[in-house]
Amino acid sequence: MATNESGESNDVYNKGFDQPRMNAAEHSRYARHPRKIAFRLLAQNYNLVTALGYPCIVLDAGCGTGDSSKLLSYFANVSEILALDESAEMLAVAETFNNDERIVYDLTDLGTYFRLPESASDGFDLVCSFDTLHWMKEPLRGLAVLARSVRIGGLLIGFALASTPKSYERIRPLLSEKVMLPNAPWFTDDEPEQSMGEALENIGFEVISCNLEEDRMIYTKEEAMGALMMLKNIFPSSMAEEEMTRIIDAYLNSFDRLPNGTYVERTRILIFVGRKVCNV
Ligand SMILES: C[S@@+](CC[C@H](N)C(=O)[O-])C[C@H]1O[C@@H](n2cnc3c(N)ncnc32)[C@H](O)[C@@H]1O
Repeated sequence: MATNESGESNDVYNKGFDQPRMNAAEHSRYARHPRKIAFRLLAQNYNLVTALGYPCIVLDAGCGTGDSSKLLSYFANVSEILALDESAEMLAVAETFNNDERIVYDLTDLGTYFRLPESASDGFDLVCSFDTLHWMKEPLRGLAVLARSVRIGGLLIGFALASTPKSYERIRPLLSEKVMLPNAPWFTDDEPEQSMGEALENIGFEVISCNLEEDRMIYTKEEAMGALMMLKNIFPSSMAEEEMTRIIDAYLNSFDRLPNGTYVERTRILIFVGRKVCNV
């Protein structure tokens, strides 16, 4: 599946920093909050998705542990879901806990163009990208790859972080240079919803909605730690234990605290829905 139509070497995307990789078991336990956003987004766009009619062939791009893929299978008009991720560990969890006869999980790097399946040779009716673009090495490139996989008239529905959580920023200087935290060009924009809207238009989409939301996650201490540990490569194996403890303390201290001791994480998310009008 991970072939490159444009003749570029896949190596381009595997040079330099490691792609941030998530710990699948921690993701499945602690990434409930982003999943709720995905569920809300699908519920809000229920009419648009059902209006695509039957059979509706879907790509869940960066499916992770498969929770959104499973949710997509509940739409009556959805006949097939290709759920792609570049992490074999994530896919193994997805196949165990979110299996469905309509879902096909496959290991694919969405940083490069991939061959469309025969059933969607003109493009998918719906492409979903939940909580994934900002993790890609080249998010705009990833967006272009997704855009190309939507058929004309089809939909792209997704959300991405629009700023690094404050806690990550706090620990960034403490981490080795080899560690890559989520990043995206729109993180630094004053109005990322404008730049994302323009990016979508530039790749052939009519913007149905593109909004910036202030997001707050409330964590127990265990969940806050789990969220950190989800970033599996965050601590190089050579790091001394005291240094790790120092980073973990800095991370926990950077959260706001509620009187009952729970941790509040603030960030911004970009939510986007577009319909493809032309190939660019
Ligand atoms: C935060 S998880 C989100 C998973 C799922 N969409 C959800 O909402 O629960 C981000 C996922 O993006 C995947 N990912 C990052 N870069 C990718 C790439 N270049 N190609 C495919 N998947 C990628 C990661 O492996 C990870 O599973």
